[in-house]
Amino acid sequence: MNRRRFLGIGASVLGAGALAAVAAPSAARLLAEGRPGQLLSSELDLPGAFRTALPLPPVLRPVRTDATGDHYEITQQVATLEILPGVKTEAWTYGGGFPGPTLVARSGRAAVVRHRNELPVPTTTHLHGGHTPADSDGYPVDLLLPVGTSDDDARRMADIADMAGMPGMAGMPGMRHAAGRNVTGERTYTYPGKQRAATLWYHDHRMGFTGPAVWRGLAGFHLVHDDEEAALPLPHGERDLPLMIADRSFAADGSFRYPAVDPDLGEPGVTDAYANGVLGDVILVNGAPWPRLDVDRVRYRLRLLNASNTRLYRLELDPQPTGGDALVQIGSDGGLLAAPVRHDGIEIAPAERFDVVVDFARYAPGTEVRLVNRFGSGRTAEVMRFDVTARQVTDDATVPDRLATVEALDASAAVATRDFAFRRSRGDGWTINGRLYEPGRNIATPALDEVELWRFSSDLHHPVHVHLNQFQVIGRNGEDPGPYDAGWKDTVDLRPAEAVEVLVRFTDYAGVYMLHCHNLEHEDMAMMADFTVR
Ligand code: C2O
Ligand code: CU
Ligand code: CU
Repeated sequence: MNRRRFLGIGASVLGAGALAAVAAPSAARLLAEGRPGQLLSSELDLPGAFRTALPLPPVLRPVRTDATGDHYEITQQVATLEILPGVKTEAWTYGGGFPGPTLVARSGRAAVVRHRNELPVPTTTHLHGGHTPADSDGYPVDLLLPVGTSDDDARRMADIADMAGMPGMAGMPGMRHAAGRNVTGERTYTYPGKQRAATLWYHDHRMGFTGPAVWRGLAGFHLVHDDEEAALPLPHGERDLPLMIADRSFAADGSFRYPAVDPDLGEPGVTDAYANGVLGDVILVNGAPWPRLDVDRVRYRLRLLNASNTRLYRLELDPQPTGGDALVQIGSDGGLLAAPVRHDGIEIAPAERFDVVVDFARYAPGTEVRLVNRFGSGRTAEVMRFDVTARQVTDDATVPDRLATVEALDASAAVATRDFAFRRSRGDGWTINGRLYEPGRNIATPALDEVELWRFSSDLHHPVHVHLNQFQVIGRNGEDPGPYDAGWKDTVDLRPAEAVEVLVRFTDYAGVYMLHCHNLEHEDMAMMADFTVR
């Protein structure tokens, strides 16, 4: 196995020359703005925009409820979906749909999810933003092997996991430990729910293959509610909409197109041209291409999630309402902000969430309000459309000036400062502090309940994600945090040549966790590290 090939990054691919050579006008702009990714075109005709109604993923019902929590079951399975009208797409799904079913949890109550793997590949399931004990966190080599995997095959798959973990890794302690935690058929993930109300999401996290697995459909919402949020007069029920925004490309046969080096996914990584990330040319919201939704002239809460592998969006409403500030942000990755933050547009990197309230009463009946992506061009500049109805309805919702109590972590209390440099390595993949990911190799050992200052620095764009607890951004390049940094975050977008300082404090669960780039192609090509909470 040739490590260089599957990590596959010729230095020239990332160089200005190679990118500039791509003739599309957007490429020059992408380069100028330093944004990652290479557009992968679909091989079939794309449907017109705003023809499909916005789907909402079904809410998963517990199979059983007891004093401690709610028990769920999800079967990971291949399903044939109609995503583009009249086109059959074979997807990898949680429970037969894309997105998977939405889990609605209550803070303080455990959600216990039994996953059954009927896919042709091993998986690991991670609750992104979850405050989760390590053994349920979806560690990338804690595999759930498909139902019916023979013992021989299980050994072979453990070998594949070893190979994905770099040649020569098989003898490392981390890999031995990891192989020991493989299970076949079904696995239970326990989420104790000791966290505030927030918009979380779950997705596959298998080492080396997270990009193609999420691209093929393995993603869903997990919402947490709590009393603090319930006491507020925010839009709720049908006026509280989770919106999973994800770009995808389609092959001529209707399948998801993805530039894997090995189409059978025996070997991780994408072809050289896509080493800086894969951009699709179809924008899906909740699994539908450029959908539309009728909205009444009232406030709606939109839980925006960027579930794209690589694509960054600048989301705006078009037209803007008179006076601007169309998007009133009430929450971030880790739940409610202390006070609302008003935006004309929101820049959202992969895995980030922004909860916003939009008041459609600011538009005349009959207005077609497009949600657009100012970072896109052509078809990727459009996302979905809201059609404002003339119905007479009353709005019982408002956005209070004070939303929640948010403890500000204190920088002067930090007991340690650590630097994490996110860089491409010449010819080798993507690194943190110069190292490719190796499971079992520890990069930091923070103590429970202590505040630390972590400084992330970048060469190019990297959406940096930390598991276990949300953090607070306190600075960018020595200046104040940016407009999208408010509140508790678990993913923060680093722009090229930027250093972002965050305060972290890990609580409740000692163990091994990850931090990584959430550009999934970067992650799969080794931009990840373990840290150990003690
Ligand atoms: Cu959303 Cu470690 O991932
Ligand atoms: Cu995560
Ligand atoms: Cu990255």
